[in-house]
Amino acid sequence: MKQLHKQHSLNHRREEEMGSGQGETPPYSPKSMKHTRSLPRSINYLLREQRLLFILVGILIGSTFFIIQPTLSRIGPPEGPAFIPRSGGFVRINSGVHNGRVGRLPAGIGGRRLRVVVTGGAGFVGSHLVDKLIARGNDVIVIDNFFTGRKENLVHLFGNPRFELIRHDVVEPILLEVDQIYHLACPASPVHYKYNPVKTIKTNVMGTLNMLGLAKRIGARFLLTSTSEVYGDPLEHPQKETYWGNVNPIGERSCYDEGKRTAETLAMDYHRGAGVEVRIARIFNTYGPRMCLDDGRVVSNFVAQAIRKQPLTVYGDGKQTRSFQYVSDLVNGLASLMDGEHVGPFNLGNPGEFTMLELAQVVKETIDSSATIEYKPNTADDPHMRKPDISKAKELLNWEPKIPLREGLPLMVSDFRNRILNEDEGKAMK
Ligand SMILES: NC(=O)c1ccc[n+]([C@@H]2O[C@H](COP(=O)([O-])OP(=O)(O)OC[C@H]3O[C@@H](n4cnc5c(N)ncnc54)[C@H](O)[C@@H]3O)[C@@H](O)[C@H]2O)c1
Repeated sequence: MKQLHKQHSLNHRREEEMGSGQGETPPYSPKSMKHTRSLPRSINYLLREQRLLFILVGILIGSTFFIIQPTLSRIGPPEGPAFIPRSGGFVRINSGVHNGRVGRLPAGIGGRRLRVVVTGGAGFVGSHLVDKLIARGNDVIVIDNFFTGRKENLVHLFGNPRFELIRHDVVEPILLEVDQIYHLACPASPVHYKYNPVKTIKTNVMGTLNMLGLAKRIGARFLLTSTSEVYGDPLEHPQKETYWGNVNPIGERSCYDEGKRTAETLAMDYHRGAGVEVRIARIFNTYGPRMCLDDGRVVSNFVAQAIRKQPLTVYGDGKQTRSFQYVSDLVNGLASLMDGEHVGPFNLGNPGEFTMLELAQVVKETIDSSATIEYKPNTADDPHMRKPDISKAKELLNWEPKIPLREGLPLMVSDFRNRILNEDEGKAMK
């Protein structure tokens, strides 16, 4: 009963409070109601002093910036050239992508010179090739282990800022950034390659693999100097590039001729399988200044013997034939092949054919008419005849040799005479 009374008096008091407050304090309203009521005040606030106008202008400027900015960056000034570090400074590379690969700028564009590696560049052919490349404005790096090459062949280039010489064996990998690789490193005369046949085959296989791997990695063009020896003792005469040869795979010369055949195979497989730009030259007998004096090659043998007043050594009956190309003709052919669009192989040689006895006669006429001939037994697997068919190189490379034997021979005689007189030759063989 007491509790009921208490409740009643409470209710009564509440009614009193509500009733009495109506005229003096604002009526109770829930929160949502308060917002609805204050909205007009916010709008009023916005509308006052052109605040809304300023906000709209701000939004407009912001959106304009974000819409236009990407377009501006596309049509703005070209991105700065990409630079990659190279051993001689920085080299510009093209930002364009071609065939899925980053393209390089063609020579002469963007003010940068073609950078070329010549392996075996301290040798006979290599040093003449380097002279040509430097003369036409390329940057040249020579890699050589000086097995048969000589610093003397390049000494005139020491100090030239566009020339670098690296002592390195191509059997070991090397990393360089270049545009073209002329791969010549390999002992080329029988005396030299028979001296260490295992090293020769390793140079032909491992050396060529390493340089092809480099070409693939850096996207450089690769030229292999192969040889007419890939035709072996040929059953076809003259030899065309389509002839597959007649080679002894287990003979004394195999480290060289089979080695070069393997090198050609590797080059073609890297070309077909890995997209490496490959060029293959099959070089026929070449002569000229800077040949090793005592390397057993017939021209250098005869010339050195005639100058030393020794009998000219003819192996066998002297009726085997060879074709002799002057070195500047070869070097021009190599450059045309490298710069052209054809893979090859291409025969590079002089089709003028001479028997050994005819060659001995030309040497006698040029150097010493009193020179005598000494016959010795022929060496194993010596080819009976060799003469290039160069119609493919004539047609596709627009190349043919210009210097006949009787003009070329005197050009090497003064070089040989000087070196023999200086009695340097024994020491030059390292
Ligand atoms: N001269 C020719 O008549 C003739 C004919 C056919 C093919 N060729 C080829 O042309 C190229 C050059 O011949 P060349 O007459 O100038 O001979 P070369 O002996 O004068 O020159 C070869 C050069 O390669 C270097 N070399 C050898 N092995 C090396 C190695 N493992 N690492 C680094 N350097 C090494 C030698 O030191 C030398 O400087 C060779 O590949 C050769 O097979 C030449």
